[in-house]
Amino acid sequence: MQLSVGFSIIMAILTIIQLVAMGFAVHLVRRTKYNAIWILCIVGFAVSLAQHIILIFSRHGYNIDNGLYITLDIVASLCIVLAVIFANRLVNYIDRLNYQRSLFNKRIMTAVLRTEERSRSNFAKELHDGMGPLLSSARLSLSALPTDNLTDEQKEILQNTRYVIDEAIRSVREISNNMSPQILMDFGLAQGIKSFISRILTLNKVDIRFATNMRKERFDSDIEVIMYRVVGELINNSLKHSGCTVISLSLSFEGGLLKLDYSDNGRGFRPKAMMDCGMGLSNIVSRIDSLNGTFDITSQKGHGMHATAIVSVTSPLEEAKKHHKNGSKRA
Ligand SMILES: Nc1ncnc2c1ncn2[C@@H]1O[C@H](COP(=O)(O)OP(=O)(O)OP(=O)(O)O)[C@@H](O)[C@H]1O
Ligand SMILES: [Mg+2]
Repeated sequence: MQLSVGFSIIMAILTIIQLVAMGFAVHLVRRTKYNAIWILCIVGFAVSLAQHIILIFSRHGYNIDNGLYITLDIVASLCIVLAVIFANRLVNYIDRLNYQRSLFNKRIMTAVLRTEERSRSNFAKELHDGMGPLLSSARLSLSALPTDNLTDEQKEILQNTRYVIDEAIRSVREISNNMSPQILMDFGLAQGIKSFISRILTLNKVDIRFATNMRKERFDSDIEVIMYRVVGELINNSLKHSGCTVISLSLSFEGGLLKLDYSDNGRGFRPKAMMDCGMGLSNIVSRIDSLNGTFDITSQKGHGMHATAIVSVTSPLEEAKKHHKNGSKRA
């Protein structure tokens, strides 16, 4: 008698659980495009419920055909197998969706970066071509001024004015070059970085060592500009935050991969904790990500830092083909 009460309670609990699960499955049928999975689950639950009822009846002495029980078992098993097959298709669909979303995000990022670079370059051009000639003609006018009848004080003022105009001309050239480095556009990444480093060396005491196996290789302008900006930000960070005495960087191109190795011997930091402290590091991550590349940074307090950026120099079309191939292999 006790066994029978226990059995009835277990059956009642199982029935309630299955009814709730069936309710969820019905809700999911309305919500998702992949109805087949949920319909199969509903059928599976219904069949299982029917089995419970048969069990309860057989417990109460009713004679129930074994064949019916086995048929229900087969139907339930078939439903589960089919639901798993459809669930696999759902996983593939979600995979595809995620891939498309990441492609979309990368496209947006690339468009933002391109617009940013274009406006930098326009501004640099305006500054260089607009302010440059004005300052040069002011300098020329000053040079044309007769100095014979000037007093010493007037000559000194003139000298100072020339000096200020020369400085302004130099600054305009430097600012416009920093905003959109002409040498990068004309001679490529390796030369662009070399010239950037030589400019920094004149202003700082830090020893910057640069090695590369590249000569005149040219890449997509997005790649060149992004790698150049990454180097700029890493060097800027080392000079600003690390107190280092040596910076080493190497740029190599081999087997279709463009690789940047960067390290300093400064005070080090915890990259994960500092990632959101400023814009620099997180910008590097999203810039490299927009090129489908990888960026790793490791550092220990007191032991400097080391960063690697690797970018595959293949066209987006080839990338998509590669992904498609991998996807079909997985399927
Ligand atoms: N080479 C480094 N050595 C020591 N600390 C570093 C180094 N690079 C970055 N950091 C630390 O990580 C933090 C985040 O760097 P990040 O470049 O993101 O921002 P930032 O340089 O402070 O500001 P921003 O780059 O936006 O001008 C820095 O504030 C600094 O504390
Ligand atoms: Mg920074």
